[in-house]
Amino acid sequence: MEVRKVGVVGLGAMGAGIAQLCVEAGAETVGLEVSSELAEQARDRIAHFLTRKVEKGTLAESERDAALARLTLVGGPEELGDSDFVIEAIVEELEPKRELFAELDRITRPEAVLATNTSALSVTEIAAATERPERVVGMHFFNPAPLMPLVEIVRAELTGDDAFEAAYAFGERLGKTPIRCHDTPGFVVNRVLIPLLNDCIRVLDEARVTPEDLDTGLRNGAGWPMGPCTLVDLVGIDVHVHASEALYEKTREPRMAPPPRLVAMCNAGLLGRKSGRGFYDYGD
Ligand code: CAA
Repeated sequence: MEVRKVGVVGLGAMGAGIAQLCVEAGAETVGLEVSSELAEQARDRIAHFLTRKVEKGTLAESERDAALARLTLVGGPEELGDSDFVIEAIVEELEPKRELFAELDRITRPEAVLATNTSALSVTEIAAATERPERVVGMHFFNPAPLMPLVEIVRAELTGDDAFEAAYAFGERLGKTPIRCHDTPGFVVNRVLIPLLNDCIRVLDEARVTPEDLDTGLRNGAGWPMGPCTLVDLVGIDVHVHASEALYEKTREPRMAPPPRLVAMCNAGLLGRKSGRGFYDYGD
């Protein structure tokens, strides 16, 4: 299946990163956000990272300009109608995702593949909101999407081979290393990483260690590229809490439940990098 035009719905940190990958891979990309202001912020973010590549000599200026020209921002889902492939990266809540997929089902061509970047919700439940669950697949990228090599290609209960392999091939075209898995809570990586990060946060209180020392510990004692507090700040404390809650709801394993400390931070608006403060102060 040839993917010429891609729709990306939701242009937050993940969606903007995914849209960046799409335009860099030569696909005409149509981006949709809830407001034109947020959409423009995403375009600026993409332009910023592509310009950094130009400054570092890994991308030609003409390639950057051509990539940016492939991105079109639109005002409503109806403008995604002629997409061959749509990747959804909106808020991590089931109902809004199901509503969006029902709408995408109505407006896109029957052969279009509809992919969700959900990190912990059930792809099968999202697919069930459409009349074509065989064309729905999970495509789970990791944060930051332009830098992390992995994408999990998730087969929901009724995903057809065609759509599944099209998503795998598209992941490769985006320069990613795809892996195939089934639609189980947390798929592969988050099934392991979320309880692990939750344990790390609990250790903060149990061992009375500072976030700095915990991060130093995991970086220097376990070879992590960034410590757990830095990582949760990067992912977004709200995103991590949501994903933990979704996994806990499905598995009932206590380690999946978000630690109260993270929930309190979330309620206080300490969301990590994006809010300027989480475990660390980013001063912007
Ligand atoms: N988008 C695009 N480009 C980016 C970027 C972003 N968000 N962030 C950084 N870059 C670019 C920048 O241009 C940067 O260069 P400059 O600083 O010179 O501008 C360049 O990439 C390299 O950045 P770094 O120097 O920060 O790169 P690094 O070598 O330190 O590696 C890292 C950064 C890849 C993020 C590394 O620290 C790492 O692997 N961390 C672990 C991340 C991780 O585990 N992610 C998974 C989170 S879990 C998840 O995502 C699952 C979920 O469902 C929530």
